[in-house]
Amino acid sequence: MEARIREIVDGMTIEQKVGQMTQADIRKITPEEVRRFYIGSVLNGGNTQPGDAPGASFAQWRAATRAYHDAALATDMAVKIPLIWGTDAVHGHGIVAGATVFPHNMGLGATHDAELVREIGAATAKQVRATGIDWVFAPTLAVVQNTRWGRSYESFSSDPAVVRELGAAYVEGLQGTLGSDTSAVATAKHFIGDGGTDRGLDRGVNASSTVDLIAIHAQGYVGALDAGAQTVMASYSSTRDYGKMHGAGTLLTDVLKKRMGFDGFIVSDWNGIAEVPGCERDHCAAAINAGIDMVMVPEKWEKFIKKTARAVRMGDIPMARIDDAVTRILRVKMRAGLFERDPDAVVGDAQDLLARDLARRAVRESLVLLKNNGAVLPLRRDARILVVGKSANSLRNQSGGWTLNWQGMKNHNADFLTGDTLLAGIREVAGAANVVFDKTAAKANVASFDAVIAVVGELPYAEMKGDILFPAPLSESRLYPEDLQVLRKVAGHGKPVITVLVSGRPLYVNDLMNLSDAFVAAWLPGTEGKGVADVLFRDAHGAIAHDFHGRLGFAWPNTPCQASFAKAGDTPLFALGYGLKYTNPKQLGPLATPAAPPVCTQ
Ligand code: BGC
Ligand code: BGC
Repeated sequence: MEARIREIVDGMTIEQKVGQMTQADIRKITPEEVRRFYIGSVLNGGNTQPGDAPGASFAQWRAATRAYHDAALATDMAVKIPLIWGTDAVHGHGIVAGATVFPHNMGLGATHDAELVREIGAATAKQVRATGIDWVFAPTLAVVQNTRWGRSYESFSSDPAVVRELGAAYVEGLQGTLGSDTSAVATAKHFIGDGGTDRGLDRGVNASSTVDLIAIHAQGYVGALDAGAQTVMASYSSTRDYGKMHGAGTLLTDVLKKRMGFDGFIVSDWNGIAEVPGCERDHCAAAINAGIDMVMVPEKWEKFIKKTARAVRMGDIPMARIDDAVTRILRVKMRAGLFERDPDAVVGDAQDLLARDLARRAVRESLVLLKNNGAVLPLRRDARILVVGKSANSLRNQSGGWTLNWQGMKNHNADFLTGDTLLAGIREVAGAANVVFDKTAAKANVASFDAVIAVVGELPYAEMKGDILFPAPLSESRLYPEDLQVLRKVAGHGKPVITVLVSGRPLYVNDLMNLSDAFVAAWLPGTEGKGVADVLFRDAHGAIAHDFHGRLGFAWPNTPCQASFAKAGDTPLFALGYGLKYTNPKQLGPLATPAAPPVCTQ
């Protein structure tokens, strides 16, 4: 294979080589341009769908991937080089309407179930391959140390050992047997230290020592590379000692490629090269020299090719570096079987977008029981239930970011062609006649029910929008006052209140917890909301149907400013690994409710 690659690379012009290193967004490039400019890769960004409109059908996805793949094979090169298409299927193939969406990583981390994560990786590969896509920008291996970061939900855990184990399992599942019809190429991202930036600032500075970079932030890469991950994405962030990661040759080349022996390719993040001082979105010799092989230049790809080719001719980028980058890209394409793949041959169909039972099981396993005073849970199936809260009937809120579009905020229940809300699950178990939904608890007479289930929490975000910037407090009820309001309406009527928090991270919720008899962290469960009712209710014989399985992958704050537990004396409300079971109950007394200060001092 290496000899075959050398022969191909030797026969390529500078423009063909640089084209091979270029990744453009399909919104900004046509198949004809892919052919003409010898483009090596395309992606669909978080807001990009075929036809440049949301809600593309399965058939449209198939037609688009076929057209771009065909175009790459229609160049005038002696040896045609197949295209590799990447997508952010970070919790299943979320951008495709009709695809099952799995819990985001924070929920999967709480399951501590590597076999489950492996199955989800495999199911995701099946979903993307059915649409003709080859490559997934997952898993995220961030070991988040400060939950102010609005991408904390993409992290399995603050515990490096958990990230290492689950990251490896995901890669094994997703890639399966490389080259087979059920395999997709994985991306270990974002290298390195994205989860450890100062105060959780997105694209910020990770001030860790080299020892901590290795002990904490590198652990996911050890797992993923051992599992055979073929690509690594550079991080927007910086490290204290090596500067912006897109220009950090010591870490990208000397550590990752040489010492860790990574022989796949490194892809830059979306316009990530522009993060390097002195660079632009369409040009960055320093990033390529540092070790970036495939450049995600979603929009300015044409200028990038021109400027990069010129930089090679001027000697600013050594030809050996370009040849190495192209060699790595071809190696991954060959291993992935792309050279043998007929883009017109169909693998799978729209049915492969569905993995509902698996996702529902993942939801069940990810739930963490934090409080269950008086054993109010599990509920009897014949109980009369009042359901309240803004997230009870919202596929949008339960799915979070990277769903149908980038930030996930524009979605309505009707946009999801498949899936069930948490409310649908409660109705199915308790019987629709026994369940009343009153979102704001404005009308219902609480005293006429046996129990109240309140589903509250964060609204969706993917990047930036979820950041809670220092010095703002991380108090749920300050961010979402309507949630405290709805709990105040239903509490104190002598009926048990069960609160289900849908969120992308642990937040300070002592005030909400004091108004609740039971409290469940449900993370961002995805489309299979019935997994929640599976656990909250007894079975038809009155026995426990499913006990809680989830344990915290992150410590839970006890005060409104606890975003990090790095300092000695930072005692959380619940430690890493906490989680009650029906079979192992515990009473939780009233919690202190220090009013959230207007600003945090640390
Ligand atoms: C794209 C996303 C991308 C983001 C980066 C969005 O417009 O759709 O895929 O991650 O920009 O800023
Ligand atoms: C994100 C990546 C993502 C890329 C492509 C970036 O903004 O940081 O995680 O893979 O966009 O959508």
